[in-house]
Formats: sequence, C-alpha cells, structure tokens
Amino acid sequence: MPTSRVVLLPGDGIGPEVAREARLTLELLVSDVEIEEHLLGGAAIRATGEPLPQETLDACLAATAVLKGPVGDPEFDAADVRPEQGLLALRVALDTYANLRPAVLGDVNVLIVRELVGGLYFGARGTREDGTVFDTCEYHPRQVERIVRRGFELARTRSSRLTSVDKANVLETSRLWRRIVDELAPRYPDVQVEHMLVDNAAMQLATTPEQFDVIVTDNMFGDILSDLAAAMTGGLGLAPSASLSDGGPGLFEPVHGSAPDIAGTNAANPAAMLRSLALLLEHGLGHVDEAGALTRAVDAVLKTTHTPDLGGDATTEQLGAAVREQLAVDATAALSYGA
Ligand code: NAD
Ligand code: IPM
Ligand code: MN
Repeated sequence: MPTSRVVLLPGDGIGPEVAREARLTLELLVSDVEIEEHLLGGAAIRATGEPLPQETLDACLAATAVLKGPVGDPEFDAADVRPEQGLLALRVALDTYANLRPAVLGDVNVLIVRELVGGLYFGARGTREDGTVFDTCEYHPRQVERIVRRGFELARTRSSRLTSVDKANVLETSRLWRRIVDELAPRYPDVQVEHMLVDNAAMQLATTPEQFDVIVTDNMFGDILSDLAAAMTGGLGLAPSASLSDGGPGLFEPVHGSAPDIAGTNAANPAAMLRSLALLLEHGLGHVDEAGALTRAVDAVLKTTHTPDLGGDATTEQLGAAVREQLAVDATAALSYGA
C-alpha cells in the first residue's frame, strides 16, 4: 500500500492537547503514514489573518484523510473573521456532506447521519434596511437526495431502521426532505423508515434513546441532536465523527468544541479524538484491523481510567498513554495466542 498522507489540524482550545494524543497513537499504529500539521481556525487567524489559509486547504485537498481538532476561541466572539468560518469552508471544499456521528453505550447504539454542507448554515443571510437580521435555510433536492440515500444505505448495514427527523409541520425545506425520503423508500424495501418531528425526536432521544438505529437529518437539527446523543451515551468527551464525501478525503473530528473553560489544563478527555482517529483508520485509510484495535483499547481504558469530565482525575496525557499501553498489551497477547 502506498504511504498515506494524513493532515492533522490541531485547532484551538483543547484541540492541540487531544491532537497530540491522536498523533502519538497514529504513529504507533501505522508505520507508513506521513503526518502533516497545519493551522485552522483561531490559530490560523492569529498567524495569517485567515481561518482557512490556502496552504491548509491545499494540504487537505491532497491528503488521504484529514484529522481535525475543534476550532473556536472566545477571543473572536465579536470578530468579523471567525474560526468557525474556516471549518465550514473546509467542509464545503472537501464536499464532506455526510457527517456520521455514532453514539454508543450499553443498549444505546444510534448513528446520526447529519447533512453537513447545506441548510441554515449556508443559505442567504444579511441585514435588511430596517435592521432585521436573517439567515435562511435552503436545500436543493439533490443535496437532500444524496444524504438521505446515505442514511438508507447505512441503515442497511445495521438494524435496518431509519428515522428521518425534520420539522415538516412548519418548514418548506422539511417538507421537501420528507417527500424525498418517501420517494426513495421503495428502493430500500428492507429498511423500516419512519418520520419524526425534531422537537419530539429530542424528547425521545432524552427518554428512550435505545429505540433509535440510524437518524438522518439536516445540518442544524443534526448539530443539536448529536450533542444530545453524546450526552446520553457518556458525554461530549467521548463522541467522534466522520465526514465523508463521494470520493475525496474524509474529515474526521470530535463532536465537541474547543472547551475554552478547560483549555491548557491537561484535563480534556481525548477519547472523542481517539475514536475519531479510529473512524479515520477505518473509513479514511482502510486500516480496519487497526481501527478495531484502537476502538477496543479506548473502550478497555475507559472502564478504569477517567478524566475529570467523567468524574476521575486522569490527565489528557495519562489517558492517551494508557490507550497506547493497552494497544501494546493487546498486540503482544494477539502474538502469543497466534491470532
Ligand atoms: P464545547 O463542546 O467546547 O464545550 C461544552 C462543554 O463540554 C464544556 O464544559 C467543555 O469543557 C466540555 N467538553 C467538551 N469537550 C470536552 C472534552 N473533550 N473533555 C472534557 N470536557 C469537554 O462547546 P462550547 O463551549 O459551546 O463551544 C466552544 C467553542 O468550540 C466555540 O467556539 C464553538 O464554536 C466551538 N466548537 C467547535 C466545534 C468543531 O470544531 N467541530 C464543535 C463544537 C463547538
Ligand atoms: C460541530 C460544531 C460546528 C457545527 C460549528 C463549530 C460550526 O458545532 O461540528 O458540531 O455547527 O457544525
Ligand atoms: Mn456542534
């Protein structure tokens, strides 16, 4: 296999702290990988004035896969040029429209499939003469079709249950969404599909999350519901994501943000970033065995070692080191059993 090129974007806040653990783990797991670090977000604005410098964008476009820490910094809260703009522009440039956000704990195993490059985040916006400020939610049928198809296909690889979440009782874009789900459904007769309004979906996720298998939804509903799903399955520090296009490099990043309240204290939970690395190994590099080994190692370490968000006193570095130790132990055990 030719050498893979992984672009690592440490980002802001706790980003560099969790990215360091991911880098050390990737270096341990895959020998033939080139890792290139670039600036994105607040760090990039400080260095270049832009949240997504051309150099970073070029490297990402040429990469096999991109591993990204969170971006965002209160320093830029009132600024015109913001870190988050760099992230949104990167997602569009890579056309990573399918954002997979798994949330797993006990008998809860839900996969949120979030549309990532359309909707309210990208529609027309501005200020009218009378001072009214507006953002608009826009979807072209093609944008809906491709994400809904992904939802059906992913449901097929799991328990074949798909919940499409919208606000069709109010929004035109949601009625388009629902129509397209209904049009595609006959092509997937093996998938059991239901529609659910987003307010009810939030309530159902908070009360009986085990009822869900795959949820497919628009950009903003997916953003909100995925934080809720993370909270229902152990917290934001554990939740990874994979953002996929139809062929180019995928973008792999935790669901959580830059956590300015704990940045620089070595207290961030690196599990979400390490699980995002596992998704990169599987979907981005095709290293399925290494992905499985890393997932098992993170799960094993989380049984005994906890960062403060989970009530423990382990540091970011200690949790990362424990995962690498576990990987070494598991590899030795596999050798001695001839597995
Ligand atoms: P946040 O996810 O950063 O933090 C919410 C709460 O969860 C905080 O109390 C934080 O300490 C905690 N938390 C988050 N991740 C954690 C981890 N790995 N370990 C331990 N605790 C963790 O959300 P926020 O405070 O609303 O946003 C902060 C900044 O992050 C904003 O600028 C926002 O735009 C940005 N953000 C970026 C991304 C991304 O890059 N994908 C995602 C979400 C938010
Ligand atoms: C996420 C974040 C981003 C989003 C922000 C930082 C633009 O909240 O990845 O969930 O809303 O997509
Ligand atoms: Mn979010």
